[in-house]
Amino acid sequence: MARIIAGVSSSHVPAIGAAIDNKRTEEPYWKRVFSGFETSKEWMAKANPDVAIVVYNDHASAFSVEIIPTFALGCAAEFPPADEGWGPRPVPVVKGHPELASHIAQSVILDEFDITVVNKMEVDHGLTVPLNLLFGSPKEWPCPVIPLAVNVVMYPPPTGHRCFMLGKAIRKAVESFPEDLRVVIFGTGGMSHQISGPRAGLINSNFDKAFLDNLTKDPKKLTRIPHLEYMREAGAEGIEMVMWLIMRGALDDKVEEVYRFYTVPASNTAVGHIILENRGRAAPGKRAAATKGRRKITSKRRVAAHRSNHPAIRRG
Ligand SMILES: [Fe+2]
Repeated sequence: MARIIAGVSSSHVPAIGAAIDNKRTEEPYWKRVFSGFETSKEWMAKANPDVAIVVYNDHASAFSVEIIPTFALGCAAEFPPADEGWGPRPVPVVKGHPELASHIAQSVILDEFDITVVNKMEVDHGLTVPLNLLFGSPKEWPCPVIPLAVNVVMYPPPTGHRCFMLGKAIRKAVESFPEDLRVVIFGTGGMSHQISGPRAGLINSNFDKAFLDNLTKDPKKLTRIPHLEYMREAGAEGIEMVMWLIMRGALDDKVEEVYRFYTVPASNTAVGHIILENRGRAAPGKRAAATKGRRKITSKRRVAAHRSNHPAIRRG
C-alpha cells in the first residue's frame, strides 16, 4: 500500500523564486535564507519519495476571482508553470500522478470533503518555490507531484480544523491505494506576513515559533485558532498557515521533528520551515525491499491505467 512517510512545511515567498531565477542566491541577504534549506535538500534526497502531495494556494494565476474553489486537487498528467506577470518561472513542468490523484479525489469526496477535481491547471510560485527549496533546481522534478490548491486569498477560507480533517482523509486515501508508494506531503505558505494596508510588513515571531512548536507537539490546539486570530497575530496573509494543518493532519499523532528553520525576513515575510517524520513508517532512504526492482511506472502507463479505470474522463 502507499503510505505517507513525512510532512514538510515551507513558506513559498515569490521573491525566493525570483532570487533563484535571477541567480542571486549567493548574495548575503538571500544566502541567509537558502542556507537554511541545505540540510532539507539532503534530507529530501535521502527520503527520495515516489510522490509529493503539495498543499499550496494559487495567487490568481490558475483561478481568477471569478472561480475560487476552496480545495482543488490537480488530477492532470502535468501542470505547466503559470505566467505570474513576468512570464512563467523557468522551472520544469510539474508531472502529476493522475492515478493516485483520482484515487484521493474519490476517497475524500466519498468521505464528504467536496473538493474540486482539476484536470487542467497551471501552477504558480505557491507550488514551485517549495519544490525548489526542497529539491533544488533540477532539469526535471525528481518525482510526480499532486497539487492541492486551497483558497486562502478570498474570504472565507476553510478553517484550520477543516484543513486538519482533510489531511486525515488524504492519509486514509493514500493508505488505501494499492501500489507501494512512499509519499511526502508539503504544507506551504506563511508564516506571519501582511502585504498591504497600514500593517504591511507585520512579522510576529512569537506567534510563528509557537505555531511551529505546536505543529509538532499539539496540532489540535492549532486547529482551534479562528481566522481573526491569524489575521490579528500573523497578518492578513498569515492565514496561509491553515494549509500547514492539512500536512499535519496527514501524519501520525506523534511525529519526529527532524529539522526546523526560521528566519526573518524574505521580502516582507517570515520564512518558516519544518520537517516531520512518521517514525512508525519507513524512514527516509529505507525503501521497502518489496519495492526494489519494482517495474518503474511511466507517466504514460499511469495515465493509460488511470483512464481505463475511469472511463468517464477518457479523452478523444
Ligand atoms: Fe502565498
